[in-house]
Amino acid sequence: MSTAETATEAHLIEAPEAIHADHFVEVSYDDAIPNNVDLSSDKQLLRALETWHPKYLEWWKDMGPEGYQQSDVYLRTAVGVDPGGWAKFDHVKMPLYRWGILLAPKVEGRTIPFGRHKGEPAWQEVPGEYRALLRRLIVVQGDTEPASVEQQRYLGATAPSLYDMRNLFQVNVEEGRHLWAMVYLLVKYFGRDGREEAEALLRRRSGEQDNPRILGAFNERTPDWLSFFMFTFFTDRDGKMQLAALAESGFDPLSRSCRFMLTEEAHHLFVGETGVQRTIEATCAAMNKAGITDPCDVDAIRKLGVVDLPLLQRKANFHMSVTRDLFGGEISSNAADAFSTGLKGRFNEAKLTGDDHVLTDATYPVTRVVDGKLVVEPVPALRAINSRLLDDYIADCQGGINRWNKVIEKAGIGFRFAQPHKGFNRRIGEFAGHRISPAGELLTEAQWQAKCGEWLPNDDDMTFINSLMKPCHERGKYASWIAPPRVGINNQPGDFEYVRID
Ligand SMILES: [Fe+2]
Ligand SMILES: [Fe+2]
Repeated sequence: MSTAETATEAHLIEAPEAIHADHFVEVSYDDAIPNNVDLSSDKQLLRALETWHPKYLEWWKDMGPEGYQQSDVYLRTAVGVDPGGWAKFDHVKMPLYRWGILLAPKVEGRTIPFGRHKGEPAWQEVPGEYRALLRRLIVVQGDTEPASVEQQRYLGATAPSLYDMRNLFQVNVEEGRHLWAMVYLLVKYFGRDGREEAEALLRRRSGEQDNPRILGAFNERTPDWLSFFMFTFFTDRDGKMQLAALAESGFDPLSRSCRFMLTEEAHHLFVGETGVQRTIEATCAAMNKAGITDPCDVDAIRKLGVVDLPLLQRKANFHMSVTRDLFGGEISSNAADAFSTGLKGRFNEAKLTGDDHVLTDATYPVTRVVDGKLVVEPVPALRAINSRLLDDYIADCQGGINRWNKVIEKAGIGFRFAQPHKGFNRRIGEFAGHRISPAGELLTEAQWQAKCGEWLPNDDDMTFINSLMKPCHERGKYASWIAPPRVGINNQPGDFEYVRID
């Protein structure tokens, strides 16, 4: 991987703990399933995964990217787990992508960093008493991976450039690999139950009435490229937070799987952040060129073939609120169990100072609605684990939003993006059933209805966005509404043929 891409992504995400190892396990590409887990020595596991493999390919064919399956796409493939050089780039047809099983290196002497087993050696096998809870955590994480591929499957046809199309497909194949990562754990450690769960992961479908994906946001549509960029910025970042929390797990194979997934996840966040940023750049440049100073002069701005900034804010509001629901109820006994048992930690758990990592007596401030008012109350920290992860997530989002605002500021335009209040447009947790404005005022239903078209994408917005979704599949060309990237993937030149469509 090029230093340019590494440097750009490095500030977007950091693995929860640096990967330390004296040597790196070579990835074997001789087997049908590339891996660094010595698959060939475990015949039973190998057979089970070889049985699952064609079903996975079947799923990819049915539910993966629509079209372009025979096109050569400039993809990176993980060929090792050394952070200094783990990927190689080449033109590959997507169905021939080498999905594999890659674990971050084992840290010798690792102990469970939190919960009631804190300080005990990390588990190399499933702790029997927590089997059901652990399996559920892996299944829920695993379910999100194919879901996002399904949500994004029609986007190739309207890609604003070959560069963006390539990024979409890169994200898609890696989400497929993340499914492999979770399926490996299920099949290796959970016997027959695990094999059944692995099959069910291929059967559920995003948005399908009878057999939907497990979590709400993964059943929403990703109908256009703005949604895709917002999704990869906001919703893949939920993925980052969940993976980071699972990377702290006392169950070592889960920890190692998630640590390597985080390395790939950085690119997904990069695609989202820079996608929105390039959209903002195109808008600001077009406004300045046309001499438009008022960001709310929507009709004039839209005539330029670019996206007005208030619309981007509404899109962001939607994706933020739906993604915040993914953290689950702010106060949760399930989350308390996952923590106490040592299965799922907090963000950066091993690095946190200031408490005992057991949290028997600690409290955490949680915003709640009490008697028609928003109040902040101390809640036993164990029961507020989700609330804390959500707060960490909101803080993590802010970095990218600040960088977007810098672009607008530099262009001299008077507009700034802001995150809506935590309770805005929520369906799960403390704020469900309440109407809360982006500024954090509790509203009546009538007040909400009168204003929500200003806060969430309205019909006009969606019609306009749709009108922009025309393919731009010529080398080195970009749709009017998005600026070219500053650097090519793997430092390729501007007119590089990222996807060979023929
Ligand atoms: Fe993923
Ligand atoms: Fe992702």
